[in-house]
Amino acid sequence: MDYTERLLTWFDAYKREMPWRNTNDPYAIWVSEIMLQQTQVDTVIPYYNKFMGRFPTVHSLASAPLEEVYKYWEGLGYYRRAENLHKGAKMVDEQYGGVFPGDIEQVKKIPGIGPYTLGAILSIAFHIPLPAVDGNVMRILARQFLIDEDISITKNRKIFEDKVMELMPEDPNRFNQALMELGALVCTPKTPKCSECPVSTLCKGHINGSALQYPVKTKKIKNPSEFYYAILFKKGNTYWMEKRPEEGLLARLWGFPLVEKEGADNIINKACYYEVLQDVSHVFTHKKWEMTPIIIEWEKTLFSQLTANTELGAFVTLEEMKSYPIATAFKKIIKKVIKEDLK
Ligand code: ADE
Repeated sequence: MDYTERLLTWFDAYKREMPWRNTNDPYAIWVSEIMLQQTQVDTVIPYYNKFMGRFPTVHSLASAPLEEVYKYWEGLGYYRRAENLHKGAKMVDEQYGGVFPGDIEQVKKIPGIGPYTLGAILSIAFHIPLPAVDGNVMRILARQFLIDEDISITKNRKIFEDKVMELMPEDPNRFNQALMELGALVCTPKTPKCSECPVSTLCKGHINGSALQYPVKTKKIKNPSEFYYAILFKKGNTYWMEKRPEEGLLARLWGFPLVEKEGADNIINKACYYEVLQDVSHVFTHKKWEMTPIIIEWEKTLFSQLTANTELGAFVTLEEMKSYPIATAFKKIIKKVIKEDLK
């Protein structure tokens, strides 16, 4: 059997059950692919099921308010995905009567769909032969064929896409998903299970013992830390929360005011009463927040100093916070406050 046949036979035998694997609905496949962009399958499944329960069609998503969509995304992170999906649903609803198009040029124009997602949706839902190359697929192919081009350089993706197309059988749906599955279950980054791999005897990296040296990837300095006080102004049993700006990290979600620690101590020291909670950290793709939450009794001067640029905010009880779209970074703080409350 050749490479492709072996891979497909293995896929048919070992593929995992996933809810989006039981449908041909391009909308459902689109939703799954967006959720899977930065998140692992096991995490995605419950979110996907709830999301599809509430928004079963393009039209139902397009006509929901963005805030509600965020609510269903809460905890998945990378909220820009939810925003684009919502925008995309409006576009598909208006331009294509709610029917997700099967045309490359049309799909390319939908917000949030890059080359990987384009290939994944069109190959899985429409059986169009297109590559769906992400980091996993590049890792597999780099090891298999000893491709030593740097995978962190965007233009090198083309080399891997061409390789996928060379190998592409009649059924792109199964083939692309087989590569994804091999990357997730067998050809993993640090400890690949070569003894379980259906294509190990054809894998140049395995044969010459160099698999772990692939893929070649220039090291980036990852996640530099930023240090903040997260200020929780307390008034009675409520805390001040504000809606984050329209643009930027965690745009439009609700959170607590953050002040950079450096130089902030003299401001904080002016508070007449405060309580410092345990530090909370949160990792994004490109940075890390190290936050020290401080509960400060509401006081006018300090409050106006620290919330001067807030467009929209409210004093919210812990119970009411459940109905606000709040980013995970801030939910971690809320958990600490609840724990403190129960003491
Ligand atoms: N990762 C991204 N898309 C996927 C899919 N359709 N199946 C499994 N893992 C994936």
